[in-house]
Amino acid sequence: MLIKKAAEIRGSEITPKWLYVNRRKFLAGALGVTAGALAGRTLKELAWPMQKVVAGSKLNVAQKSAFSTSEAVTPYDNVTHYNNFYEFGVGKEDPAEKAKNFRTSPWSVKVGGLVDKPRTFSVEDLMQLAPLEERIYRHRCVEAWSIVVPWVGFSLSVLLKEVAPQAKAKFVAFESFYDRGQMPEARYGGIPFPYVEGLRLDEAMHPLALLCFGMYGQTLPNQDGAPVRMVLPWKYGFKSIKSLVKIKLVDKQPPTTWNMANSSEFGFYSNVNPAVDHPRWSQAKERRLGEFSRRSTLMFNGYDQVASLYSGMDLRKNF
Ligand code: MTE
Repeated sequence: MLIKKAAEIRGSEITPKWLYVNRRKFLAGALGVTAGALAGRTLKELAWPMQKVVAGSKLNVAQKSAFSTSEAVTPYDNVTHYNNFYEFGVGKEDPAEKAKNFRTSPWSVKVGGLVDKPRTFSVEDLMQLAPLEERIYRHRCVEAWSIVVPWVGFSLSVLLKEVAPQAKAKFVAFESFYDRGQMPEARYGGIPFPYVEGLRLDEAMHPLALLCFGMYGQTLPNQDGAPVRMVLPWKYGFKSIKSLVKIKLVDKQPPTTWNMANSSEFGFYSNVNPAVDHPRWSQAKERRLGEFSRRSTLMFNGYDQVASLYSGMDLRKNF
């Protein structure tokens, strides 16, 4: 069982790096012109407001990301009552019911491995690393259903840069929280726990890879991976690991849960690819939750900006 430690330094005492870098620029520009306007305000007051991460709390979203799709957002009820979160049962409506009392505070994420500055972050500290953005992403499950969600977070690259990856680091391994006591349904899941996932370092550094704290303007509901998860919109949903507790930079391709469970059906890359069918069903079309007819699935789920990450690779072999 993983032991969560409360952060020794309160997040509110730490000035996030993005803020003081921006603040220096801001102060340099502002000093000559608007010094008067700053009078009486402490630096702390200029800081991004500290956000307490409790279920259902509203998040201060700084901006809507340019990565957002303009497609219609899927109704909240569909996104929160049709989930895969095997720790809380295999039925689509199980997680909403069975994760109700999941304890997600206090929470910490250990980031280490081949990095110069390993650190354990409280989730509040993580949220201070950069302004939160709203990113409306398409999210496509390997089971051929999809959703469009206004996620809230920032690029995982912000966190990875913070811990200073070493040259030897080639992959990123992720691990979810697991506690048999809180997750008794997991024993019927048919997959190994804790749930683990992995990315190549260049995939993890791609700005689309989202470290996600919320959706629809609020903190993540438990069934959607509270309090912090990954969202990788160009990959099948199972790569988007929920309720993260560990991130480790490594030199070899790390094991991934669904590949361990069934390697002929689930590969390491798992890029959305309408031309490569799952052995038991077609991937050419998908059903958007809340809609009746099916639509064509797009290569990389429509996120062509990641294509260069895979140039020269045979994506039928590296599925
Ligand atoms: N993360 C953990 N820890 N456990 C899981 O069972 N399921 C994955 C992924 N992340 C899963 C997980 C799968 S199969 C999918 S499709 C997505 O979460 C579903 O995310 P959603 O329920 O927010 O739509």
